[in-house]
Amino acid sequence: MIIILGVKTMVNRPRRLRKNSTIRDMTCETVLSKNDLIYPIFVVEGENKKKAIKSMPGVFRFSVDMLDEEVAGVLAVGIKAVLLFGVPLHKDWCGSESYNPDGVVQKAIRKLRELAPSMYIIADVCMCEYTDHGHCGIINPDGSVNNDKTLEYLSKIALTCVQAGADMVAPSNMMDGCVAAIRRVLDEDGYESTPIMAYSAKYASNFYGPFREAADSAPAFGDRKGYQMDYRNSDEALRETALDIEEGADIVMVKPAIMCLDVVHRVSKEFNIPLAAYMVSGEYAMIKCAILQGLLNESAMYEAHIAIKRAGAKMIVTYAAKEICERLD
Ligand code: PBG
Repeated sequence: MIIILGVKTMVNRPRRLRKNSTIRDMTCETVLSKNDLIYPIFVVEGENKKKAIKSMPGVFRFSVDMLDEEVAGVLAVGIKAVLLFGVPLHKDWCGSESYNPDGVVQKAIRKLRELAPSMYIIADVCMCEYTDHGHCGIINPDGSVNNDKTLEYLSKIALTCVQAGADMVAPSNMMDGCVAAIRRVLDEDGYESTPIMAYSAKYASNFYGPFREAADSAPAFGDRKGYQMDYRNSDEALRETALDIEEGADIVMVKPAIMCLDVVHRVSKEFNIPLAAYMVSGEYAMIKCAILQGLLNESAMYEAHIAIKRAGAKMIVTYAAKEICERLD
C-alpha cells in the first residue's frame, strides 16, 4: 500500500499549477505590458478632420489641429510610444511631400512634441503614401522600383522627421541598403544617437489592405513583390535581418506578426537584438470585426498580443494599443 502511494506522488501533474489563479499568474511565462506597445497614428492634411477608417473599426485619421483629442486619449491610457504615418494631399512621382520640412508628418511631429513632451515619437519612413503611383520608391521606366535612387529620398525623409523632433525612425520601404543610408545621413547631421527600427522582414502580405485605405497608398499598378518578401520564405527573413543589423539597425521588426509567428520566433532565437512585430491592419481588422459581430469574445484581441510576445517579440506595433492598455489596468 505504502509503495503504491509513493508511486502515485511521483506522477507528474502539470495541472496542479493551473488550479489557482495566483500560482497561475506567478508561473506565467509571458507578460504583456504598456511598455511593449507602439500605437500607429495616421495624420492627414487639412483642418478639423477626424475621419473613421471603414475597414479598421476604432481607428481614425486626424488632421494636425485635431491631434489634441487623440493624444489626450493616448496619454490617458498610458501609451508611451507612437508611430506616425502622414497622408499628404499632393502626391507626385518622387513623393516630394514626404521630405518637405513643413510636410504633414513633420508638422504632426512638432505638434505631438508640444502636446506630449514625454511621448516617444517614431516616424515611419516610406514613400508609398506620398507618390502618385503608390510605390515605395522612385520608379524606373520599366515600372520597377529603382532601389539606389530611392535611398537618397528615404534619407531625406528620415532627416526631416528627426529634425522636426522624432525620437526614432522606422524605415518600412524594404529597399536594400536603406538602414546604412539613413544611418550615414543622421550621423553626418549630428543625430548619431537617434535609433533606427528597421522593418527587416516585411512580407508582401495580403493583410495590409485596410492600411492602404487609411494611408491612401495602394500601388496604382503592379504589386510590391519586387521589394517585399515572399511569404513562402523564412530563411530569407534571417538573411534580411542579419543585413539590417550589420547596417546599424537598433531594433528589427517582423511584419505581419500573426501570420509570421514562426518568423518572429526564429528571428528572436537567432539574433540578440530587440525585436518588434507589427500586428498589421488586416490582422487587427479580422479580429476586431469578429469581436464586433459577436463571433469572438473581447479577450481574443488580448490573446493575439500574448501570442506575439510568446513567439519572441519584445514590442508590438498595434492598432489595439488603447484597448490593450485599458485591459491591463
Ligand atoms: C508602408 C507601410 C505599409 C504598412 C506599414 N508601412 C503598407 C505596405 O507596405 O503596403 C502596413 C501596415 C498595416 O497594414 O497595418 N510601406
